[in-house]
Amino acid sequence: MSGSRIDALLSEMTLAEKIGQLNMLAAGFSVTGPIIGGDATGAVREGRAGSLLNVFGPSSVRDIQRVAIEESRLKIPLILGFDVVHGHRTVFPVPLGEAAAFDPALWEATARASAREAAADGVALTFAPMLDVSRDPRWGRVVEGPGEDPFVHALFGAAKVRGFQGDALDDPSTVAATVKHFVGYGAAAAGRDYASTDMSERTLRETYLPPFQAAIAAGCAAVMPAFSDLSGVPMTANGPLLTSWLRREAGFEGVVISDYNAVAELVAHGVATDLAEAAALALRAGVDVDMMSGAYERGLPDALSRGLVTLAEIETSVRRVLQLKERLGLFDDPMRGLRDQGAAPLLAEHRPLAREAARRSAVLLSNRNDILPIAANPLRIAMVGPLGDAPTDMMGSWSGAGEARDSVTFLRGLREARPDCDIGYARGVGVDEAEEGGPDAALELARAADLVILAIGEARDMSGEAASRTGLDLPGDQANFARAVLALGRPTVVVLSSGRPLAVPWLFERADAVLATWFLGSEAGHALADLLTGRAAPSGRLPLTWPRSVGQVPIFFGERPSGRPASDGHYTSKYIDLPTTPLFAFGHGLTYGHVRYASLSVEPSRPRRDDAISVSVELANEGVHAAEETVFLFVRKPVSRVARPLLELKGFLRMGLEPGERARGVLTLPVSALAFPGPDLTSSVEPGDYEILVGPSADRTRLLRQVVHIEEGGA
Ligand code: NOJ
Repeated sequence: MSGSRIDALLSEMTLAEKIGQLNMLAAGFSVTGPIIGGDATGAVREGRAGSLLNVFGPSSVRDIQRVAIEESRLKIPLILGFDVVHGHRTVFPVPLGEAAAFDPALWEATARASAREAAADGVALTFAPMLDVSRDPRWGRVVEGPGEDPFVHALFGAAKVRGFQGDALDDPSTVAATVKHFVGYGAAAAGRDYASTDMSERTLRETYLPPFQAAIAAGCAAVMPAFSDLSGVPMTANGPLLTSWLRREAGFEGVVISDYNAVAELVAHGVATDLAEAAALALRAGVDVDMMSGAYERGLPDALSRGLVTLAEIETSVRRVLQLKERLGLFDDPMRGLRDQGAAPLLAEHRPLAREAARRSAVLLSNRNDILPIAANPLRIAMVGPLGDAPTDMMGSWSGAGEARDSVTFLRGLREARPDCDIGYARGVGVDEAEEGGPDAALELARAADLVILAIGEARDMSGEAASRTGLDLPGDQANFARAVLALGRPTVVVLSSGRPLAVPWLFERADAVLATWFLGSEAGHALADLLTGRAAPSGRLPLTWPRSVGQVPIFFGERPSGRPASDGHYTSKYIDLPTTPLFAFGHGLTYGHVRYASLSVEPSRPRRDDAISVSVELANEGVHAAEETVFLFVRKPVSRVARPLLELKGFLRMGLEPGERARGVLTLPVSALAFPGPDLTSSVEPGDYEILVGPSADRTRLLRQVVHIEEGGA
């Protein structure tokens, strides 16, 4: 469109109407913060709101969009935004779980399906993907993103943006993506949500910014600044990052949308005295849209008359909002993609994808004596624990328009898969509270069973926003309950649902198998049954390090070497009460086959700077079941001008292997991917030796290693 349509509109708009385009209000229900909004209809009619969040579905969307395009003076359509984070009506696994699939094609496919469903419900913009690298599982929002590693985040983010946005936003089955929370939010001090962050510019550039860079390069339409401050400058007022980095360095041309009430919170942050100052700080830093704080509506006119902002600055933001409306095709088709009232949601069509995604998100952490898959003969199975038949919890933290009645629980899935087995169920204990009648009935059931499935963990609202924890243990009385069940000595498989790793080493010592299921979504129970019965081989791998104790946090594979690495010596970098190693390394995850790695080959050994290094390794499945393996490629530069992390992830590859099968996995590593910021933070590929390390996880003892050499100043 025409800049001309936008110019014409701008020339007709009053100041209030301009500011209205920068105002996003919540309608319907209000989810994450103080409930400020009520009925937004009046504001829409008066041109005081340019976008809304939390309105979806044919009749509400039609009604409110009609007010905008028929009853408001300038008839500008609204953008309707919604948190479609891991599904809309069909709920896919939480992002931390889906990350475990290590498959960009799957990540893209679930975003595409979510976009189709959301767009059919009138949603034009989602507040996702969430790309906050997080290395502290106390932080509840660790569940919303793809884990600890920036390389995984970059691939995950780009895949999600492609999935949400498709080829072009004027396709009415797409939604505009909003990458969030820019930037550093996952480094919240002590893992407490909304707390302050502080980090070196090197860490910012090496770890926290690259995921955003990747999402922007993929064409992401919007960016949301984090609630938090970075070294004292709240991100909502952070001009150097929101303008200098985002727009100038990263080339972002879209819309910046504040988080919920974050503009007004600049006062509480201690950088503004009133709403006018808060509004001016945010707008001048580069925040175009004020979500729900009212600071732009109430503060910008005042800020303008006090000379804190200029009309040109306001208009720059208005122009960006109108451009997004244009890209979305809203001016020509305000009901963009909206389904008819009677049309069914796409749930039935998307269930197979939800089942596949759920199957591939679960991580088999332990499987002593190959107790899984479950034997084929009829068994008496006891499912016990609070999460065995918990449809709401299966949906996880951001369940969109999902409905609990559509969730297939673990109990239902297993009963459908094994009608030949006698499968009883008793909760035994609540997630966070005692069970009426106590645990006796569950213990009785378990005692008499051939196999016990112990379904424990966190409720879905124990992770996510404002759900930080100081401990990584099993909530409530579940530890006692689990100990009592395990003490019965029956073969026991633990199905552990949680939004973060739980540091419960004793559980792994006693249980025969533990499957981490995070929150698997609408098809949780079918996916679990596929895996337990062996219809599918487990293939998920940990997208973050699993600690032994909360005291090890933050723990991640990309740490820098110490001058005194942990050893038997006393004065070394370690704890006196626990090993420094995690319970499970990043990338850990078992399958039913047994895969052996051999003969790593890296060619050429002295690559030129424009070469791609070919890395190949032989895999042999020595087990009796099929294997679904993920091969990880790490690098390390042992000597450089600035000490490099002990491992840096540069690639991964998924391979299926039948029993007895051998195959070579091949990964390609462009030499340019070895670049890192030098002492002056300028990125380059330093000459010298680089270790190339390949294996099934970030456990260094299991990695095969070769060295390549990059010549000084070579071409
Ligand atoms: C607050 C959360 O931080 C953000 O992630 C979300 O998109 C908004 N609320 C809107 O619900």
